[in-house]
Order: sequence, then structure tokens, then C-alpha cells
Amino acid sequence: MVYITRRERFSAAHKLSRKDWTEEKNYETFGKCSNPNWHGHNYVLHVTVGGEVDSETGFVVDLSVLGDLIKEKVIVHLDHKNLNLDVPFMRNIMTSTENIAIAIWDQLEEEVKEIGGQLHKIKLQETENNYVEYYGGK
Ligand code: NI
Repeated sequence: MVYITRRERFSAAHKLSRKDWTEEKNYETFGKCSNPNWHGHNYVLHVTVGGEVDSETGFVVDLSVLGDLIKEKVIVHLDHKNLNLDVPFMRNIMTSTENIAIAIWDQLEEEVKEIGGQLHKIKLQETENNYVEYYGGK
């Protein structure tokens, strides 16, 4: 098995807060990400796909095809959007980096099989200092 990774980027607004909590409790828990009037991040997404190397092409999957797939299924839905309000597959989900990574996995898992690979990892970087990795499952 060989693993290849495609990087894509998107910029989006969000906030982390619970309506059933006070503004103070939201701030204590989520810090600046609880700002009631939203804020943004420049997210960096790494999608890692595993598979066998094709004897004719030398590829696991065609990275430009994978890039197009990620753009079509993920990036166009998230880029320059409000993750809390604009994204059907994030509806009613806390827009933490963890949950965004899981939602991206769910958007891509079956699609990656269609192009002959196996989705291995979603790495989502929210800031230079923080990132999440998700390998599927619980
Ligand atoms: Ni934030």
C-alpha cells in the first residue's frame, strides 16, 4: 500500500457556541472562537489516499482527479462560506475542526473508492498551531 496526499485550502467563517449556554460559559469553553459576530480561518486540508501503484501509470490515483473531486465535493461547499449557516453537511453540528474533518471524510469516502483509492486520513489545519487528523471510524 502506498499513500499519497493532496493539499487543498479554503477560507471560512464560523463560531463555536451553544445556544443553551450563556455567553460567559461559551467564552470560557471556546475562547475567541465563541465571538457572537463570527470570525474566520484559513484552513489547510490534507487528504491522504492509499492504494496499490498502477503498473501502467505508476499512480495510486491521479492526483489531479483527486484534487478535482475534493474541490467538487468539499471546497466549493466550504470556501468563503459561514460553516454554521451555509453548509448543508454541517447543519446542526458544532463547527469544531474535529467535526469539520469528520464531515469532510463522510463527503469523500465513497467518492475516493470510485476513483480506485481508499481514503486513509483527513488532516485539517485550522491555525499554524492546531490541526486534527481523522482516520475514519469512531
Ligand atoms: Ni475559530
